[in-house]
Amino acid sequence: MCGIIACVGDSDDAVDELLVGLENLEYRGYDSAGLAVKNGGDPAVFKRKGEISRLKDVLADETPSGGLGIGHTRWSTHGPPTDANAHPHTGCGDRVAVVHNGIIENHGALREELRARGHVFDSDTDTEVIPHLVEEHLAEGVSPETAFRRTVRRLSGSYAVAMLVEESDAVYATRSGSPLVVGVDDGEYFLASDVPAFLDFTDDVIYLDDGDVVVARPDGHVITDLDGNAVERTVQTVDWDPEDAGKGGYDHYMLKEIHEQPTALRQTLRGRVDAQTGEVALEDFPPGTFEDVSRVQFVACGTSYHAGIVGARLLGARDVPARAFLASEYATSPPPVDGETLVVGVTQSGETADTLAALRRARAAGARTVAVTNVVGSTAARECDDALFIRAGPEIGVAATKTFSSQVVSLTLLGERLVRDVTGSRSDDVEELFAALSDLPGQVQQVLDYTKARRVAKRYRDSDAYFFIGRDTGFPVALEGALKFKEITYEHAEGFAAGELKHGPLALVTPETPVFAVFNGRDHEKTLGNVKEVEARGAPVVAVATDDDEAAFEHAETVLTVPETHPDVAGVLANVQLQLLSYHAADLLGRSIDKPRNLAKSVTVE
Ligand code: G6P
Repeated sequence: MCGIIACVGDSDDAVDELLVGLENLEYRGYDSAGLAVKNGGDPAVFKRKGEISRLKDVLADETPSGGLGIGHTRWSTHGPPTDANAHPHTGCGDRVAVVHNGIIENHGALREELRARGHVFDSDTDTEVIPHLVEEHLAEGVSPETAFRRTVRRLSGSYAVAMLVEESDAVYATRSGSPLVVGVDDGEYFLASDVPAFLDFTDDVIYLDDGDVVVARPDGHVITDLDGNAVERTVQTVDWDPEDAGKGGYDHYMLKEIHEQPTALRQTLRGRVDAQTGEVALEDFPPGTFEDVSRVQFVACGTSYHAGIVGARLLGARDVPARAFLASEYATSPPPVDGETLVVGVTQSGETADTLAALRRARAAGARTVAVTNVVGSTAARECDDALFIRAGPEIGVAATKTFSSQVVSLTLLGERLVRDVTGSRSDDVEELFAALSDLPGQVQQVLDYTKARRVAKRYRDSDAYFFIGRDTGFPVALEGALKFKEITYEHAEGFAAGELKHGPLALVTPETPVFAVFNGRDHEKTLGNVKEVEARGAPVVAVATDDDEAAFEHAETVLTVPETHPDVAGVLANVQLQLLSYHAADLLGRSIDKPRNLAKSVTVE
């Protein structure tokens, strides 16, 4: 977790650029923020517990300047959010300043060792061993670069690290298991955990590999492996607009991203389906790609897991054996895997540690792996055999919204490729399914234009708890509806398979617990039966259903309507209504919608 940024230039405005970068990275953690800037001598360090605004207050009094700097926004893993635990960290003196994202697994042993040699630690963090080690190597008389390399060799775990040293005009950085990208501008470099951090300044990017060491000076950069051998990394231009990474007039990123869904879906679909002929054209997956596959396993976390369940159901219904697994569980007790198993990692960021661990495990066991991700150049995209990009554009709000819709659509397309390759024939209903996909962006727009989610949120705002039910592809949408609701409102919300309600959760249902029922067009009667069970216990029912669904209107107190579509993608439309419901409920409660407490967008620790 955490976000890191570094700037290397010869003007004096590193602090301003670092602050922009930190604000763009705040979604990665916001327990504390800090920066170090160099103007000749020692790196000057400024850091504060809490959001970046607190750091800015400190900087307003101090007004440091310099062309070289490193910055950090923290999501606590070792030690509570305090000023002392905020990054950058220094050694015993002020010669070395370091920011780090990830976990140094052997920090305990290193700390003992360093203490025994007289080092004094100021923080509880695993990171602090790094500047102390560098300091020791510098004292041996080696160059900062050698001291950095020798230190990195001692580390085990996952890390992206950037360092400033008193006697050098360079930033030293490396990555292993945590993301780090380089932004290249005229006479200036940026290093960051993620591209949006420096999109305001440049869209030319170098994606680093694990083990790469970067030494960046205002007049040039060198990338080598840990042994010092030069490595070639190309500069790629990303087509993300810095505007896309801003709020664009909406009160919150989440609301903006919810409204971006029609565009995101058009991007996801562009050039990939022909609704007339039923053809599917996925760049790296020509016909026959998956001929050797006999079963599919999806691994993912959070919202991506819910998309994975949809993917598994689509395949299962078309005679391709498929299952979705929570990545954290998969990594510890994996199911049987062989050379005919395709393991699909669904991950918006491509950096979620649990998902990466599951994918690595699957690969080691002989499976073929595909990353379905939003981030080109992410670890998942690079480590898997292949990658399918969902093309949703940057998502900043911690609560995933548009990426869920784009994941479901991407998995539907990948699913059809798999169905054809594995079973030898196309899905019976492919024309209807693809026509539904083509209509989906416009239908999402309709939902956005006519929703009454805010009214519904207001009506039930004083409830004790909120339950969400659905079956088949409506079930993961119920899970996702509840996840979104609890994430940003901090209210108690749970999602259940509609049929499971009577096996326990019904005991919780009272007139104070609204139940949101997702009707997706399949097994309508059964879901209706579950709604009646709820109704009989006096709980208000809010149905998410089409506007001609008379039964839903008869039994629900309120209906959030969605356009008619194919049942396999109906969940996307229902989910948009539930996203809006959660957003408005959280807004009415005055919650920190884009940065909910205790959560982070990209969870890079297991
Ligand atoms: C975090 C985020 C969730 C996200 C999950 C998986 O928990 O808060 O919104 O669904 O990670 O992230 P990924 O990037 O792998 O999709």
